Amino acid sequence: MDTPSASLDSPEALRAELERLQVREKHLQNDLAVTRQESEDSTLHYLETLSALQQRNQELESLKNNLENLVEARTRELRQSQEHLLHMQRVELIGALAGGIAHDFNNILFAIIGYAEMAIEDVPREHPASEKLGAILKACHRAKDLVKHILTFSRQEKSEQRPVLVSPIIQEVVRMLRASVPSSVEIRYGYDRKDLVILGDPTELHQVVMNLGTNAADALRDKGGVLDIRTRRVEPADADLARFPMMRRQPYLHILVQDTGVGIDPAVLPKIFTPFFTTKPPGKGTGLGLAVAQSIAERYGGFIHVESELGKGSAFHVYLPELKGSEAPVPDHDTPVPGGHERILFVDDEPGLVDMARAMLSGLGYEVVALTSSAEALNLFLADPDRFDLALLDHTMPGLSGLDLARMMLRKRPRLPVVLCTGYSDAVTEEQVAAAGLAAFHYKPLVKRELAESIRAALDKAAQPRPQPGA
Ligand SMILES: Nc1ncnc2c1ncn2[C@@H]1O[C@H](COP(=O)(O)OP(=O)(O)OP(=O)(O)O)[C@@H](O)[C@H]1O
Ligand SMILES: [Mg+2]
Repeated sequence: MDTPSASLDSPEALRAELERLQVREKHLQNDLAVTRQESEDSTLHYLETLSALQQRNQELESLKNNLENLVEARTRELRQSQEHLLHMQRVELIGALAGGIAHDFNNILFAIIGYAEMAIEDVPREHPASEKLGAILKACHRAKDLVKHILTFSRQEKSEQRPVLVSPIIQEVVRMLRASVPSSVEIRYGYDRKDLVILGDPTELHQVVMNLGTNAADALRDKGGVLDIRTRRVEPADADLARFPMMRRQPYLHILVQDTGVGIDPAVLPKIFTPFFTTKPPGKGTGLGLAVAQSIAERYGGFIHVESELGKGSAFHVYLPELKGSEAPVPDHDTPVPGGHERILFVDDEPGLVDMARAMLSGLGYEVVALTSSAEALNLFLADPDRFDLALLDHTMPGLSGLDLARMMLRKRPRLPVVLCTGYSDAVTEEQVAAAGLAAFHYKPLVKRELAESIRAALDKAAQPRPQPGA
């Protein structure tokens, strides 16, 4: 600390002191300027740091948000796939259970139908029982449809996948819907091209579109409106691939079945594909339509997506992989079911089935002898091995099985065409059938066209010129 000089009584001393103080003040001012500058610098530095920190904070915040969104999306995805898995497991279980029952039920049903048909012919039309029998038959046919649904969806109905031309099948559905809906429902149908082909089964594709179409028609029944069915070919865009986890980068057939009907309650929407879920009154709906459609679509590598708004309507989008580079096949509906005049021996231990098959085969022009006992059939055959041109045998019969009966017949007459019918639970393999020298084998229930075509093919093959005996 500077202290003033002891004596400032002389002017020199005063001047010297003044100069000293001036120098001192300059120093102080310099110091002050430096300090001010330093303080300004540090404020600036502080502000700069603050702003950098704020920016960093914002970045962190947005990073955190992104991360949260990502976790949320991933969790949602996981939850969805878990729900889907649970759903599939439930469907599979119900399918296995229902399929087992449906299969046996089918045979019983065929017998009931067979007998009811015979009884209707036995009683005169004016008899009161005639109408009741008609009602029995109608109920049976509904039960038959139901069994067919259950078998398809439990995958017990064997379906062979082959190239299927789509447009004639959709047209057929549209025709059937038009015939069944009230005039207050307008049905529209559109497509972008007629040559789309998928790998599948025509009956199943028909089922998918028919089930969706029937639901749409039901949704429109009360207030009328528009039912729109359209098909087109789509190449998935990136947005589609992100939206539908099941979608692959390949062309799809897109079938849209849309209605302006009652719509679906958001609370109900997650359940509609569950087997046996229905909002329809008892006797009106079984709740299998969508479960069947979905199981078929997924088996083909496709999927069904639904959008709906209560009171406005619903849109069901079916996506099925397009089959490329295949020849468009001849649509089934255009070729008649083949028949003939040959003699056929039919053996099945179910009398109801025997009557059904007899009616079906004679309807195709064949001469039919039908028996319920395999032993009796063998005796008849051995008595005159050339009496028949073809044998159609059920496999599961008491005593002598169909396969064994076939083997015995073929031992006697090796070129006899034999067609075997088996149930899914019968453990007959294609190898066994081929090894035994059979012409063909079929799963029950017997589909008329399929059976008729294979009988005709077997007969034609047997009629081809054969090698000389002993050659
Ligand atoms: N287009 C639609 N509009 C409104 N509701 C629909 C539509 N399609 C399906 N649903 C709802 O989904 C439920 C399940 O449909 P699904 O086809 O599986 O069974 P169902 O039609 O009730 O019976 P069925 O086995 O005879 O088809 C229906 O009961 C209905 O509530
Ligand atoms: Mg339905």
